Amino acid sequence: MTSPTKVSLESELACLAANMQDCSLRTLFSADDRRFDKLSMRCDGILFDYSKQKLTQDILKRLHQYAVAADIVGWRTKMAAGELINHTERRAVRHMDLRAGKDAPLEVQSVLTRMHRISDSVRDGSWHGYKGDAIQDVVSIGIGGSDLGPRMVVRALSALSASGNVPRVHFVSNIDGADLAACLSQLEPTTTLFLVVSKTFTTQETMQNAHSARAWLLQAMQGEQAAIARHFVAVSTNHRATSDFGIATENVLEFWDWVGGRYSLWSAVGLPIAIACGFDNFKRLLAGARNMDQHFINSDSELNLPIVMALIDFWNSRFLGIDTHAILPYSQSLALFPAYLQQLEMESNGKRIGRDGEVLAHPACQVVWGEPGTNSQHSFFQLLHQGGRLVACDFIAPGQPDWRLAGHHHLLLANCLAQSAALAFGQNEDEARAVGVEEALLPYNIFPGNQPSSTSLLSDLSPESLGQLIALYEHKIFCLGVLWGLNSFDQWGVELGKRIANDLSDYLLAETDKPVAADKRLDGSTLGLLRAMRKLYPPGRE
Ligand code: F6P
Repeated sequence: MTSPTKVSLESELACLAANMQDCSLRTLFSADDRRFDKLSMRCDGILFDYSKQKLTQDILKRLHQYAVAADIVGWRTKMAAGELINHTERRAVRHMDLRAGKDAPLEVQSVLTRMHRISDSVRDGSWHGYKGDAIQDVVSIGIGGSDLGPRMVVRALSALSASGNVPRVHFVSNIDGADLAACLSQLEPTTTLFLVVSKTFTTQETMQNAHSARAWLLQAMQGEQAAIARHFVAVSTNHRATSDFGIATENVLEFWDWVGGRYSLWSAVGLPIAIACGFDNFKRLLAGARNMDQHFINSDSELNLPIVMALIDFWNSRFLGIDTHAILPYSQSLALFPAYLQQLEMESNGKRIGRDGEVLAHPACQVVWGEPGTNSQHSFFQLLHQGGRLVACDFIAPGQPDWRLAGHHHLLLANCLAQSAALAFGQNEDEARAVGVEEALLPYNIFPGNQPSSTSLLSDLSPESLGQLIALYEHKIFCLGVLWGLNSFDQWGVELGKRIANDLSDYLLAETDKPVAADKRLDGSTLGLLRAMRKLYPPGRE
């Protein structure tokens, strides 16, 4: 028997989706009292419940057939074998090699050894600044993939970095001088170490911030260039640029073009993590991710958590037409996880051109956003409950608290459970009456429910479980890219704005309006705003 094609499965799935439109989650649960057992799975410390998604086992079966037709397993093998699957940049995609432990390539192990040495010496006070002082503050300067991952992890593992007399780790990313200036205002040059993290070492934001940081340091050191060697470390693939900047060769940690920026926190880009939390904890993070890699590479599709998660997202977005996806960690420590995932998912899959160079038949990638609970319950949850639009939700909760404070954690978990239940099952008129809602207010107290969600219950928020969680989403996003038929590892869409910004910054600095007026490419709106900006902040003010 021949296997069904993508085209035939798409039309079957579209029919199933049409039937599902009128089917409520209440109906699905009352039809099967074992729904939770059937539509939940475990992967080490993660219990993943997707029974509150609007799908059935039959739908899931078709989705798995779709995964076969899309050749997820084949693409997984190609990625693991180091084939050039990032075809538009002619690069391999080997971030799994960074966390392969004893099986990691020698070049990876050697950088890890250097990270170990540097992070230990900064933490134990044996790394001295130019004037002989121990380092008290580390400022990581980077943006996008060279910032969001380490920043998110350092925050997530804050319970591990809070104890002991270790340096504080700060992150600066925005080109807005307010970011760096506010950070530097609290610091002493003699006890500050800068990490300049940039794969290309050309990114405008990072280079501007790095140059300003260098000027700040040199001013305090009476222009002694030799101070740079004691106060700057670079993480980059571009050695010529790091040396032009003046960073000593022994202070440059390399990574490779086969590591995508948004997949790079496992490389030397993770140095801020090793400094904040200790190298052993960084290794535990890698071990957790490795564990998920092994699960992803070795498990059959039906038992494969990243594949199942990707199929659910694909179903929601491609067939149920749900365009947005809220990430709701019930963990203050995971506060930056939604922001991190925004880049990971939308920079990877926010594309309209497929692998074959043709426009995709359907827009790929949901809009990813979110905030931690319970705070988000007091901001946008109103829209989730009664706004009348479908939003897919990922609840994420660690079963045990990372910061222990009596009386809090059970309330946090209760809220997480309450929200996913309320979103799924809502409240009908009878139920509203039963809780005493007066007749005139009944319409306002109807909650339609049927908002689909999954819940990932982590055993805890250790470095291992965090590593697992991040790798889970990385692989899910890879699988989604395969299902959509696109390359998840390039990002051409960010280039146009960068180029225009370079031209416009020259115009903002020009002494007269002449070059601005002479540029016939400028549209009326940009021209008008540019002129207004030049009046508000005339050239020569800096
Ligand atoms: O915004 C585009 C981007 O290239 C991201 O993909 C990347 O993570 C970020 O800029 C930073 O790049 P770099 O590490 O080269 O400074």
